[in-house]
Amino acid sequence: MKKKGAIILAAGQGKRMKSKRAKVLHGLAGKPMLFYPVELVKRANIERILVIVGHQAEAVTEALSESPVTTILQDPPLGTGHAVLQAKKALKGFNGTLLILNGDTPLLQDETIRRLWTLHRREKAVLTLLTTSLAKPHGYGRVVRNRDGTLKRIVEEKDATPAERTIREINTGVYLIEKSFLFKALEKVRPNNRQKEYYLTDVIHIAAREGKRLLGFEANPEEVIGINSRADLAAAEGILRKRINNHWMGKGVTLVDPNQTRIDAAVKIGRDSILYPGVTLEGKTEIGEGSVIYSSRIKDSRLGKGVVIKDHCIIEEAKIESGGIIGPFAHLRPGTLIRKGAKVGNFVEIKKSTLGKGSKANHLSYIGNTEVGKGVNIGAGTITCNYDGRKKEKTIIEDKVFIGSDTQLVAPVRIGARSLIAAGATITEDVPPDTLAISRTRQENKEGWVKKNKLRAKR
Ligand code: UD1
Ligand code: MG
Repeated sequence: MKKKGAIILAAGQGKRMKSKRAKVLHGLAGKPMLFYPVELVKRANIERILVIVGHQAEAVTEALSESPVTTILQDPPLGTGHAVLQAKKALKGFNGTLLILNGDTPLLQDETIRRLWTLHRREKAVLTLLTTSLAKPHGYGRVVRNRDGTLKRIVEEKDATPAERTIREINTGVYLIEKSFLFKALEKVRPNNRQKEYYLTDVIHIAAREGKRLLGFEANPEEVIGINSRADLAAAEGILRKRINNHWMGKGVTLVDPNQTRIDAAVKIGRDSILYPGVTLEGKTEIGEGSVIYSSRIKDSRLGKGVVIKDHCIIEEAKIESGGIIGPFAHLRPGTLIRKGAKVGNFVEIKKSTLGKGSKANHLSYIGNTEVGKGVNIGAGTITCNYDGRKKEKTIIEDKVFIGSDTQLVAPVRIGARSLIAAGATITEDVPPDTLAISRTRQENKEGWVKKNKLRAKR
């Protein structure tokens, strides 16, 4: 079998994005756009993957640092043909077929690439071009065919005659090309066009002229959108979201209203979970089976089975074990661990803390840098004072402690197991186990005082 290689073009600036950031680094369903072609190529078992970088090469290379690809610098970027030519040296000794695609075409599906490859091999083609037909072909290179239907050349929108502009079949920028032909052809490409660029697309014309076996293969237009502007980006995001949502519904997840549910590409969801409208699941979030999530945003977090997230919560880099119940209006910040069956209620903020099995913090609390044991009840309005203006200190609350409402725990402090803190306390010293701690002035009732001072009449 012939060897497989891939070249992904990602050196262009992406002027039409009007952005400081390189186009291929703009996010799509939680990942940089460029990751989609890279991952597609990886899944196609291609051994050799080259990415051509140029504009913001450093940032793009950095983004790819964990991908099994080699980056090659194109400086300055003189067009797509010039970009591919930069890979020539790195591919010395490689003999086989090259898949060339653009870094700005993130919606391509595995099946399409597989079929493209099968056709190319079966027909022993030298070049197979992925095309599609669009009602609005504006901005793309048009596919010019001979009378007999064979491919003749590609003409870019900017160089096209008015008649050519009416052609609806476009070049998707995805090609399979035999290496033995590719670089020889590229040497012949000249920048004789409106943009004064070396066009990769010119190799089609060269192949046709030289009588090489040249094929076109039509793809579903939805897959081959090239992202050139913010509007294209939004359109691609919409398509991708629909695909992701359909995928999870197919796996047994209920999306009450898919149009109001946003799930990033890397998220995982267990079956029989229910997502209500307004749910956003971001980054590497994982949701266990049978969880129920109302309108909330969850990012890079892991939820066990049967977790309930009520409305309007923000959960980031947190872990919630099975049966946890969170919200409404809770804020779980990085480093939060909610153990089995624990409960976090309204207006509770938790950071870098563990809430032990079955413990509860149901109302109006701040818990930071705290270890809470099992079966603890944290009363309404409890605050851990973890910051003295210079450093963060720890609070430890052992098993089965009861903290009365409106208590401040001034860290560092330890509350021993089964102790009871009376409401309204300011705890600055450790409390031993099985102890009642009270820290407030005793109440005094001055009977008849109001009448005597005639305050009543004024009221
Ligand atoms: C290109 C094709 C066009 C096709 C369209 C599909 C050419 C000449 N035109 O046009 O026929 O319909 O894609 O989306 O190939 N790049 C480099 N170096 C460069 C220039 C570009 O690496 O010097 C990269 C870009 O980062 C991008 C890709 O190549 O990922 C395509 O470049 P872009 O400028 O978007 O080309 P299009 O005008 O879209
Ligand atoms: Mg493009």
